[in-house]
Amino acid sequence: MKSIVIQQPNTLVIEDRPLPTPAAGEVRVKVKLAGICGSDSHIYRGHNPFAKYPRVIGHEFFGVIDAVGDGVDTARLGQRVSVDPVISCGHCYQCSVGKPNVCASLVVLGVHRDGGFSEYAAVPAKNAKVIPDSISDKHAVMIEPFTIAANVTGHVSPTEQDVALIYGAGPMGLVTVQALKGVYKVKQVIVVDRIDERLEMAQRSGADWVINNGNQSLPALLEEKGIKPTLIIDAACHPSILQEAITLAAPAARIVLMGFSSEPSQIVQQGITGKELSIFSSRLNANKFPVVIDWLTKGLIDPDKLITHSFEYQHVKDAIELFEKDQRQCCKVLLTF
Ligand code: NAI
Ligand code: MN
Ligand code: ZN
Repeated sequence: MKSIVIQQPNTLVIEDRPLPTPAAGEVRVKVKLAGICGSDSHIYRGHNPFAKYPRVIGHEFFGVIDAVGDGVDTARLGQRVSVDPVISCGHCYQCSVGKPNVCASLVVLGVHRDGGFSEYAAVPAKNAKVIPDSISDKHAVMIEPFTIAANVTGHVSPTEQDVALIYGAGPMGLVTVQALKGVYKVKQVIVVDRIDERLEMAQRSGADWVINNGNQSLPALLEEKGIKPTLIIDAACHPSILQEAITLAAPAARIVLMGFSSEPSQIVQQGITGKELSIFSSRLNANKFPVVIDWLTKGLIDPDKLITHSFEYQHVKDAIELFEKDQRQCCKVLLTF
């Protein structure tokens, strides 16, 4: 079989590898579709601190089970599945409090272990989530990015009355907009980015007001309208954003951080405690595949609004380069296998 391997930073090779045999408790997935994410590009370029090389990248993938290991019901053969990339031990402290996404022995497919940019992938059977027939292949491959939004919103229980402010209209900002509008029916969702084309995408995903803070002052615009956000989500992830969010937030607001910057953020405690703000962080997803499958079944979100390109896997280098270089036109890029 062919697998897309990052042999070392900046060296991507489509290798011929032996077909994997699923171990006990695992299934083998014949991959049909996969999605390119920022972290794939970071591993390719050597910017992901968790990655070990060589690595088959890809943690957003969909396919059909074509073999099962010992102890797995053969009734699973032929099932259409999307794979949850988060592999956890199930018994450490973090797992016991419902956070398998930060398990003490966390393994993420495509990061710590070979992932889904491959014709076949062996994965734990419980990570291969069955997709109802009503959900198309293209929607099924988009479940993982939406689980990030399910995890973010799960921390803060948005309400219709919230005034939400989202920093960043990349894929992560857009999935969050769709969750806030489509699932939680938040009346006012404001999105800020520096790229007009991305802000247009945010509008198509349901944003009520978009602001380009490359040429306008976000604090001044909010002040002028007397708006104090009650829910702020940082899906742009520059270290300077946290202090701005603290300043703009309404008393009792919630702020969710998604970034992995190693640069310090300078913040003033008084701004947090004086308004009794709650600051959350969100990483990957904690068992959110069933949540997003439910959203899709009910038609509450529309992944098509994020998909801008599709390539055959043989052209993966072109696909990743386009994804990296063209933030104006490019959002989610799919690979077909
Ligand atoms: P992206 O790079 O496509 O989007 C980020 C957007 O933020 C861009 O459109 C950019 O123009 C905008 N931006 C940058 N600085 C800004 C600022 N100061 N104000 C307003 N907009 C600004 O990235 P993507 O894929 O949407 O991911 C966003 C962030 O989320 C990344 O930092 C990524 O590492 C992180 N991430 C976190 C996850 C988690 O589970 N915590 C999962 C996936 C991504
Ligand atoms: Mn992803
Ligand atoms: Zn664990």
